[in-house]
Parts: sequence; structure tokens; C-alpha cells
Amino acid sequence: MLLIQFTGLSGSGKTTLAKNVEHLLVKQGHKVEIVDGDIYRKTICKDLGFSKEDRYENVRRLFNVGQDFIQSKVIVLMSVINPYEDLRNEISRHNFVRTVYLDCSLDNLIKRDPKGLYKKALLPDTDSNKINNFTGISDVYEVPLKADLTLKTDSEEVSVSTHKLYSFILENISNT
Ligand code: PPS
Ligand code: MG
Repeated sequence: MLLIQFTGLSGSGKTTLAKNVEHLLVKQGHKVEIVDGDIYRKTICKDLGFSKEDRYENVRRLFNVGQDFIQSKVIVLMSVINPYEDLRNEISRHNFVRTVYLDCSLDNLIKRDPKGLYKKALLPDTDSNKINNFTGISDVYEVPLKADLTLKTDSEEVSVSTHKLYSFILENISNT
């Protein structure tokens, strides 16, 4: 039983790394389920926005989904920003949970900006396209104090982070 709770800013590589390791794990015969914030926000979390309360509710719901998958011997990769330390700690109290922090500097994220969201978050208040409450810009992101694995996704190649995460998961499948 293993559930990886990712945490990291938008664009830090949560979805990409989850998909990459899913591919490697499935090749080895493991069952994997990705529980991705962006995807579930279109279905069971579509009533939720980005206030503090809604983010708590979002992460709690996704953890519940993850726990259901865990019952059926699936490795769960929960790829959400997951910005609050106390909620992450509440989740990591379960012995089948490991916390993986994707550490990427804001400067780099603003430069990369694959979805154009940072650009919109940095627009002036008067612009109607501005995104408010954007994590890391106009909303809080609490850096984890005790992640089980930290991946520096701005200084290492995606393939390196992928293999570190893959090895970490293999080690932890047998330990949980
Ligand atoms: S949270 O904080 O854990 O509830 O967030 P999550 O469910 O992972 O959703 C993050 C994705 O929502 C998009 N998006 C935003 N992110 C942060 N702040 C604001 N205001 C916001 N508005 C939209 C964005 O595509 C995030 O996806 P990722 O994969 O993190 O880039
Ligand atoms: Mg994503």
C-alpha cells in the first residue's frame, strides 16, 4: 500500500513526473492511479475554487479518493499543489503515505510558464484577465519541513527526477 502525496507549485512537474513514473511502474506490472488536482477539479471538485477552505476541501476529497484506490492494491500518485503544512501532516500520519516535494524556484516557473498562468497572475489588478489567489504569487505556499523526498525540478533533468522518484517508490512499496 502506497500513496504519494506530491506538493509543489503550479508548473513544478507534479503531473509530468506522475505520468512518467506511472509508465515505468505499469511496465513492471504494478497498478497505478493518478489523482490529479487539475483533472478532479473538472469532476468531483468542480464546485471548488482556490480559497483556503476550498483548497483544504479539495485535498481532503482527493485523499479520500486515493484511500479508496489504496484498498484495491493500487499505487496512488496524488498530484496536487497541496500548499498547507498542517493538512499535509494530517495526511502523512497514515503509514502508507509518503510526501514528495517538487522544489522549483519561482523565477524558473515564471520563465517556463507552460500554461501562461503566472503571466495572468502577474497582471495588474485592473486587468480583467488577472488570476487572483495564485499560489506562490498572491496566495500562500508553505514549504514542507519534512518531505520524505525532495526533487529539485529546476536544476535536474526530468529523466533524473523521474528515476529518483521511481526508485523511491519501489523502495517504499516494500516498506509500507
Ligand atoms: S490545491 O491548492 O492543491 O487545491 O490545487 P490543485 O487542485 O492542485 O489545482 C492546481 C491547478 O489549478 C490551476 N489553477 C491554479 N493553481 C493555483 N492557484 C490558482 N489560483 C489557480 N487557478 C487555476 C493550475 O492549472 C494548477 O495545476 P498545476 O498542475 O499545479 O499547474
Ligand atoms: Mg499539473
